[in-house]
Amino acid sequence: MAPETFTFRRIGTIHTPFREAAGTPIQPVFGAGVEGEVEVDAAVAAGLDDLDGFERIWLVYALDRAGPCSLTVVPYRDVVAHGVFATRAPSRPNAIGLSVVRLIAREGARLRVADLDVLDGTPLLDIKPYVPAFDAFPGARDGWLAAGASGRGRADDRFHRG
Ligand SMILES: C[S@@+](CC[C@H](N)C(=O)[O-])C[C@H]1O[C@@H](n2cnc3c(N)ncnc32)[C@H](O)[C@@H]1O
Repeated sequence: MAPETFTFRRIGTIHTPFREAAGTPIQPVFGAGVEGEVEVDAAVAAGLDDLDGFERIWLVYALDRAGPCSLTVVPYRDVVAHGVFATRAPSRPNAIGLSVVRLIAREGARLRVADLDVLDGTPLLDIKPYVPAFDAFPGARDGWLAAGASGRGRADDRFHRG
């Protein structure tokens, strides 16, 4: 029988200028130009080979400072509640984040990246290349966001541990 719980290990750490949720961009697009570094554990650094041919990469990480899970949230881009799975809010049943960031350079086991919406010290779980032919669907329907009543681009601390 398939397991009901899974264990993932940290494969690195994301370093950014952001020490607290409040004021951190809520998506990479709002953090355009913000630079940081992904430090990958030496044990898995060989897995970075050939990544530097990609302009953008997906970072998958643990939202380690998220507050308690809530199945209904008022997201940053609206003023009314939505189901958490219809949002990118950090307070989710499995606090996993994903961000598509710009890869500036690989320097050994370190990646210089930009366009960050991640807190400093965030545990890295995985990296994948962003592939426009696989990942981009321009014009796709975007649900409540199309009429979302907030233009907010930076977070406050509503989804975070005090
Ligand atoms: C709205 S979430 C979106 C994150 C990711 N782009 C996603 O869609 O899964 C972005 C916010 O998460 C918060 N955040 C970033 N890193 C975090 C961490 N390690 N633990 C808890 N919250 C974090 C920051 O407040 C940031 O503004």
